Amino acid sequence: MFNLTKEDLGRRILGCGDGPAAFNATLTKCGGRIVSVDPIYSFDTSQIRSRIAGTYETVMAQMHKNQDDYVWKDIPSVEHLGKIRMSAMEDFLADFGTGKQDGRYVTGELPSLPFESGQFDIALSSHFLFLYSAHLSAEFHIQAIQEMLRVAREVRIFPLLALDGASSPYFNAVKEYFSTMRFSVDTMRVAYEFQRGGNEMLIIKPV
Ligand SMILES: C[S@@+](CC[C@H](N)C(=O)[O-])C[C@H]1O[C@@H](n2cnc3c(N)ncnc32)[C@H](O)[C@@H]1O
Repeated sequence: MFNLTKEDLGRRILGCGDGPAAFNATLTKCGGRIVSVDPIYSFDTSQIRSRIAGTYETVMAQMHKNQDDYVWKDIPSVEHLGKIRMSAMEDFLADFGTGKQDGRYVTGELPSLPFESGQFDIALSSHFLFLYSAHLSAEFHIQAIQEMLRVAREVRIFPLLALDGASSPYFNAVKEYFSTMRFSVDTMRVAYEFQRGGNEMLIIKPV
């Protein structure tokens, strides 16, 4: 999703809205330095586990209904997707208690982050900014990205599409705002594409 190189993976990474994903657990095992921030981290492992179990059938039913909106290449079927997701969530759940104690899972939410300025090298957002354009305003996007740029030297966002598969209506406003604030704003093609057409990320950093 983010074209992260070996060098990038050695930098101090912040994942914004990481949710119950396995990236933090996996990168930590490989010796990386990563912190994830999400409002759901206020709950404990068993609460998150039961929330995942409680929404599983609904999520799977939605995926069946909307299968044509996704590319079934690396992931061949909805059933396979279910297995991959549950396995990733199990990796997250197994790591969450220790990771929270170690300060790798932090409760917080954009557009205000509980971190020092410049604490990270890269701040990532996957499947949150742009994707939920129907629920979050252009102002929220700009404030959130500004905050990510306060705590990190570089921001990467994936994908650039909203949930309906169209480009986010806020993409141009975000690009224009940060370009005029003397940041470079570049769209880059990535290898990952699951949501059909969702194969680009945005990189914003100081010029
Ligand atoms: C669709 S999930 C994406 C999870 C993960 N990044 C991924 O790509 O699989 C969206 C996540 O955004 C989190 N979220 C919601 N509001 C947020 C906010 N204001 N700031 C940061 N994260 C938020 C949710 O709790 C949820 O975990």
